[in-house]
Amino acid sequence: MEKYVILGGAKLEGEVEISGAKNSAVAIIVAALLVKDVCVIENVPAVSDTYVLMDIINQLGGKAEFVSKGTLRIDARGVDCIEAPYEMVSKIRASSYLMGALLGRFGHARVAMPGGCDFGVRPIDLHLKGFEALGAEYTVEHGLVDIHAEKLSGAEIYMDTVSVGATINVMLAAALAQGQTVIENAAKEPHIVDVANFLNSMGANIKGAGTDVIKIKGVESLHGGTYIVIPDQIEAGTFMIAAAATNGDVLIKNVIPKHLDSVTAKLLEMGAEVEEYDDAIRVKASGNLKKVNVKTMPHPGFPTDLQPQMLTLLTRTEGTSIVTENVWDSRFKYVDELRRMGANVTVDGRTAIVEGGAQLTGSPVSSTDLRAGAALVIAGLMANGVTEVYNLKYIDRGYENFEQKLRSLGAQITRRKDGEKCHFAGIA
Ligand code: UD1
Repeated sequence: MEKYVILGGAKLEGEVEISGAKNSAVAIIVAALLVKDVCVIENVPAVSDTYVLMDIINQLGGKAEFVSKGTLRIDARGVDCIEAPYEMVSKIRASSYLMGALLGRFGHARVAMPGGCDFGVRPIDLHLKGFEALGAEYTVEHGLVDIHAEKLSGAEIYMDTVSVGATINVMLAAALAQGQTVIENAAKEPHIVDVANFLNSMGANIKGAGTDVIKIKGVESLHGGTYIVIPDQIEAGTFMIAAAATNGDVLIKNVIPKHLDSVTAKLLEMGAEVEEYDDAIRVKASGNLKKVNVKTMPHPGFPTDLQPQMLTLLTRTEGTSIVTENVWDSRFKYVDELRRMGANVTVDGRTAIVEGGAQLTGSPVSSTDLRAGAALVIAGLMANGVTEVYNLKYIDRGYENFEQKLRSLGAQITRRKDGEKCHFAGIA
C-alpha cells in the first residue's frame, strides 16, 4: 500500500501551476461520445478518473488517447455499444454522464448505478426525471439502469434540488433532442459552463449556462474540434488553503480568480492576504488567523469540495468556528482522522464545531475520500512531526502531481510504499 510521508512545519512558498479542472474534464470526455467525429481536448489533468473514462470509451468502441501532455484525442466514430456494466463504472461518479451521452446519441443506454466518493446517499432521481421529461422511459434491473426513447423531445424541466450531475446529464441528452429544453433551477458551477461551451463549440445551441435557467435548442448533429478545459477551481482552492495553513506565500497560477471568490472572501475574513491578478492569485499568511463560519452551498457559494481543507485550516485559528455542510448529508467522516492528529472538532449531523488553536501532531491517517485526502495532507503540513497519509487512490483520482507540486513549494512530502524507509533532513 502506498502512502504519503509528510514532515510538517515547512511554509509553502513560491509558485504553482494549476491543472485543468477534473470535474469539467470528466464531463467533457463523456460528452465527446455525442460527437461522431474527433474531439481534441486540451488541459486535461492526468488523474486516475481521466484514465478510467478513457478506458470506458475504448471499451465502448471509441478511441481515447493522450497525444501529448494534457491533450486528449477522442474519436467516438466507432462507438457501437450502449452498455456500461458495473466493473466499468463503479469506480467513478462521472460515469453517470454515460446515461445522458449514450441516450442522446443512440436513444438507448444501459449503465450500472454509478460509484464515486461516499458522502452518504448519492441519488440519481433528478437525472432520471430529466430523461423522462425528454420522453425516455427507464427500468432498473440487476443493478443496471436501462433508459430508452424512440425520440427525445425538448421539455421544461425544473430541478427540485440544485444538482451538477443532473444539470449536465440533461444538457447531454437534450443537445441532439428535437426542439427546445429549458432547465430551471440549474446548477451554476464553472464546469457546467465549461461543458456547455464545449458542446457549443462542437455545434450545439446552449444558452444561459452559468445562470439558473439553461436553454438548449436541439441540433441535428455535432462536429469535432478542439477545446481547452478551464483551470481546476478546487485544486486552486486547495493550494490557497494550504498556503494559509502553513503561514506561507504562494502565487497560484493558471486560475480564474472569479471562480474562487467564496474562498478568497473567507481567507480575507480570517486575516490572510489575498491578491488577485488576471489569471493568478497570491495567498500570504502570517501569525494568527481568525475564526470564521463556513456554509457550503452550490456555486457561487462556498464549495463543498473545499469544506474538508477549510475545516482543517480552521483547527489552527483563534476561537471557535462553525462549518455547516449543506450539500451532502455525510461529509465529515475524515474528522475522526483529524482528531487522531489532535484536532478538537465536534460533529453533529451536518454541522462541525471546530475549536481553534490546536497544534496538530503527526500521525498515521487514512483518506476517506478525494478532498478529505487533500485535507489530511494539509493537516500533515501543519503538524509537528511526521504524518503518514494512507489510501492515496482517492487523492490520485483528482490531483495531478500533487506531491511534486507541494514539494516545489518547499513541502517535505514523499510517496512511499508501506515499509519503505523515508529520511527527511533532521529526522532519523
Ligand atoms: C458534483 C461533483 C462533486 C461535488 C458535487 C457538489 C463531479 C464529478 N462531482 O457531484 O465533486 O461534491 O457536484 O458540488 O462534478 N441530488 C439529488 N438527486 C439527484 C442528484 C443529486 O437529490 O438526482 C442531491 C445530492 O444528494 C446532493 C446534491 O443534490 O445532496 C448535490 O449533488 P450533485 O450536484 O448532483 O453532485 P454530483 O454531480 O454527484
